[in-house]
Amino acid sequence: MAKIVISGGEPLNGEVWISGAKNAVLPILASTLLCDESMSIGNVPHLHDVTTTMELLGQMGAQFIIDERMKIHVDPRHTHNFHAPYDLVKTMRASILVLGPLVARYGEAHVSLPGGCAIGSRPVDLHIRGLQALGAELVVENGYIHAKAKRLKGARVGMDLVTVTGTENIMMAAALASGTTVIENAAQEPEVVDLANCLNAMGAQVSGAGTNTITIQGVERLHGTHYDVLPDRIETGTFLVAGAITSGRVLLKKARPNTLDSVLSKLEQAGAHLNVGEDTIELDMRGNRPKAVTLTTAPYPAFPTDMQAQFVALNTVAEGVGVVTETVFENRFMHVQELQRLGADIRVEGNTAIIRGVPEMTGAPIMATDLRASACLVLAGLVAKGDTTVDRVYHIDRGYECIEEKLGMLGAKIRRLPS
Ligand code: EPU
Repeated sequence: MAKIVISGGEPLNGEVWISGAKNAVLPILASTLLCDESMSIGNVPHLHDVTTTMELLGQMGAQFIIDERMKIHVDPRHTHNFHAPYDLVKTMRASILVLGPLVARYGEAHVSLPGGCAIGSRPVDLHIRGLQALGAELVVENGYIHAKAKRLKGARVGMDLVTVTGTENIMMAAALASGTTVIENAAQEPEVVDLANCLNAMGAQVSGAGTNTITIQGVERLHGTHYDVLPDRIETGTFLVAGAITSGRVLLKKARPNTLDSVLSKLEQAGAHLNVGEDTIELDMRGNRPKAVTLTTAPYPAFPTDMQAQFVALNTVAEGVGVVTETVFENRFMHVQELQRLGADIRVEGNTAIIRGVPEMTGAPIMATDLRASACLVLAGLVAKGDTTVDRVYHIDRGYECIEEKLGMLGAKIRRLPS
């Protein structure tokens, strides 16, 4: 298995551009199943999860052309297979996003249940209940969700919990339903808004995305369009922490700063000087050791769970004690034991990690357990003295485009050892 080796201990200084958002492009690719014509999608990040989604849609019959600027042309008109097999779904939970579009557009879907996950149990009951509210018949048998429906009918769908992909699945299905659907307690994440904007560009009538109530007036059909994916706020936040943890300076371009308010405010509390433009963010931490920050994760606009591990890494070398509480997933502290191998002082009590900053960490071999944990370990490697070798880096390739090249542009000494 490929590994990443980082020789840490030096401040980063440089600039880098931000890629399209993983968690926006995946539902947008799934939404092409709803469409009667070819679609083109721009600002597509080159990520393993994008390849997996293309493989999944390809098995269903969709045809793809990728041009040199990572613009993807999708022709969904030959879709004939409504099956998302376990082998693909188990590698990428976001495969569940084909459920709503398939049942809405083709009246049939057979999607494997995703099964366990490194960060929590992650059931999909709310996706199922939401589609049932729209009139689909769903049964779970032999590890698969089997769904069928005539035309879905708009309904009021109250979500017991805020769920990002659950909201997206129902929103996509409702786009082609008859009548009006209202999703209550909807997720407000920028990626949900991006999907709504894409659906509207295809002719859907979605309003209220970005608030906790989304209204969808169903239409008969959706047409092809071109859509550019929004910049990745989690990649942006990760590079900002890379600057902060190394007491360096980073300038990020092609970013969307207004999707990162909670993260930027925590970086300021950590002592970073920020200079925010319309699509740029400069972080300057030169000459300063970060100060520990205390935070609690929760759905947007609160602090994102997908940035929790990176801020645990930041706190490991900060001045003072930071308390990080995870409320979205029940098992998202797998990175802690690996950070302890580098010399971090962290105690986990239930869903809270108490991190006492140490003046210095030292490099060691460590292992990534999931996507954001792997980003956290790379960040820790940037500041730990000596060599840190991060094993199982395939996790990082799921969600970070060209991570070594980009960190290299910021001056990091980082290289990949092939398997
Ligand atoms: N939940 C249920 N039932 C459901 C759905 C969710 O109990 O039917 C629970 C989950 O177990 C969890 C909470 O609700 O405790 C929130 O989960 P959510 O459904 O919002 O997560 P998701 O849609 O599966 C997306 C992102 C994740 C991100 C979370 C939270 C995508 C493709 N994935 O997952 O991204 O952490 O929202 O913001 O959008 C990542 O990029 O590393 C990642 C894990």
